[in-house]
Amino acid sequence: MAPPKLAAGNWKMNGTLQSLAELDALPTAPGVEVLICPPALLVQPMAGRAAGRIMVGGQDCHAAASGAHTGDIAAAQLKDAGASHVIVGHSERRSDHGETDAAVMAKAAAAHQAGLVAIICVGETEAQRDSGETLSVIAGQLAASVPDCATAANTVIAYEPVWAIGTGRTPSAAQIAEVHDAMRQALCARFADGAEISLLYGGSVKPANAAEIFAIPHVNGALVGGASLKAADFGPIISAL
Ligand code: G3H
Repeated sequence: MAPPKLAAGNWKMNGTLQSLAELDALPTAPGVEVLICPPALLVQPMAGRAAGRIMVGGQDCHAAASGAHTGDIAAAQLKDAGASHVIVGHSERRSDHGETDAAVMAKAAAAHQAGLVAIICVGETEAQRDSGETLSVIAGQLAASVPDCATAANTVIAYEPVWAIGTGRTPSAAQIAEVHDAMRQALCARFADGAEISLLYGGSVKPANAAEIFAIPHVNGALVGGASLKAADFGPIISAL
């Protein structure tokens, strides 16, 4: 079976209740799953408004099922609010909150335990790319961030070069293809259904470059930041997939 096609939006720390109106103008496309991960406070109202047309996800979860973790959110609480997915290990979490690969793996396992699909993010810094370490960095992050309980049904991998996030810069098609091919090989070597795990590209995806990116082998969708905030931008990206 081919991996599912997924157009995922990450609203990051943007949006209010008023922003939910953007959902109404989003298109659907046959065979394409559409997901938005808003700030946690908007998960429940978004899930109500999207009503099965658009899936809703969290941007992070705690590794523990519950307990004394002030300010954190458990995967089961996201699920309870209507989420189907949760992003873990986004580079902004890794840099802003010091999240390690081990922490990301624990969060992904907690997401699975709660019945959520974990979108596990990996990506090299510009210095790592410049020094030729990209493939080894990605291989290391995959090995150390993806738990053994991962399957095609509960896991999506997002390749997000740190230097491409929010910068307007993207790797060349050949560079994206090289990383996605390597990720596919690594997943197939480790998991029985590794060929069916969706692989997303993220980093400055826009309506103008989406079709070219989606044509790259082993790119099964995108994790979109800035261009997911407005239906006028995210709509054409969904349609390009
Ligand atoms: O999660 C999304 C990524 O960080 C990409 O963000 O599309 O604004 O570059 P961007």
